[in-house]
Amino acid sequence: MTNIVRKDHFHLSWIYVFQLMCFNLRFIQITNHLNKMKTKSEQTTLMNNEEKTLKTDLPNFKSLSESSKEDWEEIIAKQKVHFKTLPDRILNHLKMLDGDYAGFPVDRLQHSLQTAELAAIDGRDEEYIVCALLHDIGDNLGPVNHPDIAAAILHPFVSEANHWMVKHHGIFQGYNFFHHLGMDRNMRETYRKSPYFDHTAEFIAKYDDIAFDSDKPKLGLEEFEPMVRRVLKEPKNTIYNFKRY
Ligand SMILES: [Fe+2]
Ligand SMILES: [Fe+2]
Repeated sequence: MTNIVRKDHFHLSWIYVFQLMCFNLRFIQITNHLNKMKTKSEQTTLMNNEEKTLKTDLPNFKSLSESSKEDWEEIIAKQKVHFKTLPDRILNHLKMLDGDYAGFPVDRLQHSLQTAELAAIDGRDEEYIVCALLHDIGDNLGPVNHPDIAAAILHPFVSEANHWMVKHHGIFQGYNFFHHLGMDRNMRETYRKSPYFDHTAEFIAKYDDIAFDSDKPKLGLEEFEPMVRRVLKEPKNTIYNFKRY
């Protein structure tokens, strides 16, 4: 009898522990969800404030040729505000690839995340990982020239080698499937003499090519957000120098 009571008591204790664990897990999930909502609402407030700032005190000119130095001082001040939210706009656009399978085993966001994760696991630096993350961001805007879009976005922020890699990754990736489309899979040989040929071929072989794994657990974009913000913080290659103004 005592043993049965003890056994039942032991059994009930485990049920209690299990329920407590479930409660804690649910609590963590709710907290994470609320934090995400908070970040989203903070971002929306930031965007709304930015919009308000950009709409106030507008200049009167009807053509740029009649704009004054004073007008441009105002414009540059607003451009600086606008520039700060560039990572938000880029991350939001990346989110548009969520659920966009276009016939592939994983959606385009997961492909981008898997490419970036493979690069991160391999110990690549932040700039490279961000290039991996954004390399297909133009998929839904430039269906026949998508690498150009990512390359244009990244150009001010990355090295010549990484820019070249992103810009030409489509033709290099073609080695893996162009022959199925009746195309020349060796089209990339046109660039054999480029100093960035091996750099780009390596990106394809090690990361881009193998980032279509539907058996992998779904990855979240949040992990990469801080590095996107760091890499896109300061333009290095641009004709404009905001610091001068
Ligand atoms: Fe691509
Ligand atoms: Fe890709």
